Amino acid sequence: MAPHNKYFGTDGLDASLQFELNNGENTGPGHATTLQFLANYLTTKSSMADLIAAGVYASVRSCGGPVVPLRFGRIDATEAGLGGVPQPQNSAGSFTSAFDRMTFTQSEMIKLVACGHTLGSVHSTEFPNIVSASVGQVAFDSSNAVFDNKVAAEYAAGTTTNPLVSGASVGVGRNSDFKVFNSDGNVTINAMADPTFYRNTCATMLQKMIEVVPDGVVLTDVITPYAVKPIAMQLTLGSNGQFQLTGFIRVLTTTVPADSIKNVVFTWKDRNGGNSCGSSTTCSVTATQQGVATGFDDSFAVCIRSRRHLILMLTVLALPHHGEHPRCVWYFVVHPRRELQ
Ligand code: HEM
Repeated sequence: MAPHNKYFGTDGLDASLQFELNNGENTGPGHATTLQFLANYLTTKSSMADLIAAGVYASVRSCGGPVVPLRFGRIDATEAGLGGVPQPQNSAGSFTSAFDRMTFTQSEMIKLVACGHTLGSVHSTEFPNIVSASVGQVAFDSSNAVFDNKVAAEYAAGTTTNPLVSGASVGVGRNSDFKVFNSDGNVTINAMADPTFYRNTCATMLQKMIEVVPDGVVLTDVITPYAVKPIAMQLTLGSNGQFQLTGFIRVLTTTVPADSIKNVVFTWKDRNGGNSCGSSTTCSVTATQQGVATGFDDSFAVCIRSRRHLILMLTVLALPHHGEHPRCVWYFVVHPRRELQ
């Protein structure tokens, strides 16, 4: 996101990082290992830039931070961006202009840096004049694996050991967090010492950060889980001339308890809206709950027809004649175990 230029509408979260690993601005092994991990999830519908955004959501949430609303639709760059990652030796004025170029005001800059520097450390390998080799790494706050407001609270209380505020960085002019936090007379960073304000502000700032994209990119609505989602559905033609539908149905149970769902019924509809099911005795099959799953903020029930995932057998005759392509629909109806209030 750092190379974004709001005046030209260029750069932003476009995964150009993959071409910038050796430009001297993105030091340390973490960028490459992150890209290698995310590459496993690259699809035609999830660009590397979208996956980096999803990584922000997952890492913040898994460390106990707020939900960062996530939208997709980013487009991956095909070459390196212009650069422009702020460096600890830069001046306070230079930080303010760099963040302004990325669309962040001075106050937003302070908030965003305070949100980012609740996790992780400064490493001697990358910044030997800030952290000595004998120490290895120094955390930004006393809970560096927890997404909390301690980086701000300890700074405000004067007890911080943030290596970008105190210690060796001061003598070599690399105390960048001090330069950033102090740039408005500590007004914003003191406000961030309030845990609720910090948490809510970070959700907003981190969403803004991952939505800094080049002009022309259109992001989707915020992604939310489907109420009912078919997974890995497959219709295969067996040697006996029958179609076999297999797969799973995932039902969102975040607000509707799993034990209130009796089953999921599949009903086959042909292209005319009818229910011609050939030799099958019924056009409906019932799948019952076989397991549960959870995410950071949601829970799910997973329904299948049997242990072998066999859902329904349909004869070939159920398909339209005259060489027309089949155009049929499955309807999924989630049956409540009892009347929902
Ligand atoms: C003025 C702007 C900033 C400067 C000068 C700066 C500087 C630094 C430095 C020198 C490190 C140590 C890297 C290492 O030793 O591996 C670091 C780490 C880190 N920064 Fe920043 N940073 C800035 C803004 C941000 C922002 C906006 C975020 C995210 C919202 C962020 C998130 C992080 C994180 C998570 C780490 C820990 C990395 C790790 O432990 O491997 N920083 N930063």
